[in-house]
Amino acid sequence: MRRIAVVPGSFDPVTLGHLDVIERAAGLFDEVHVLVVHNPGKTALLPISQRVSLLQRAIADAGLPDTITVASWSMGLLVDYCLEVGASVLIKGIRSQVDVAYETPMAIVNRNLAGVETIFMLPDPANAHVSSSLVRQVAALGGDISPYVPRVVAEYLQKAPV
Ligand code: PNS
Repeated sequence: MRRIAVVPGSFDPVTLGHLDVIERAAGLFDEVHVLVVHNPGKTALLPISQRVSLLQRAIADAGLPDTITVASWSMGLLVDYCLEVGASVLIKGIRSQVDVAYETPMAIVNRNLAGVETIFMLPDPANAHVSSSLVRQVAALGGDISPYVPRVVAEYLQKAPV
């Protein structure tokens, strides 16, 4: 039986912290689906299609395994996607107690809804302070985001500052 995990998130935009979690997840599972999901609680910077494209290019540039696929989901619950592709595990990066508090209720609800388990993965300490919201803010104010994001993201946001 193939072990399939989903790494869900807004990825607005993908950061080096995300890429680290995706790479390590790929080392643990036969297939990893990186799933871009709209979070209604956040004001989006990039359209979903652009986030998917940047993720695909960042994953290819980093030479990550082809067992990783990128998709988006807007058809309902996250666990519906998991059931559709046969994934039994969600993987979330956890940088701090704030993330634990934010992720724990979702993990419990997702397990109650469909028996999908959530694994929390600690970031590489080098990325523990990196978040998409920080990147959006620095980019909007004209700062250098290259230490925090894959090269394709830095180039894209420099060319088309939003
Ligand atoms: O990167 P984010 O914004 O923290 O990701 C949050 C996300 C998109 C994974 C979360 O909002 C989510 O799971 N949305 C899907 C809707 C859903 O299934 N909700 C019910 C269970 S929490």
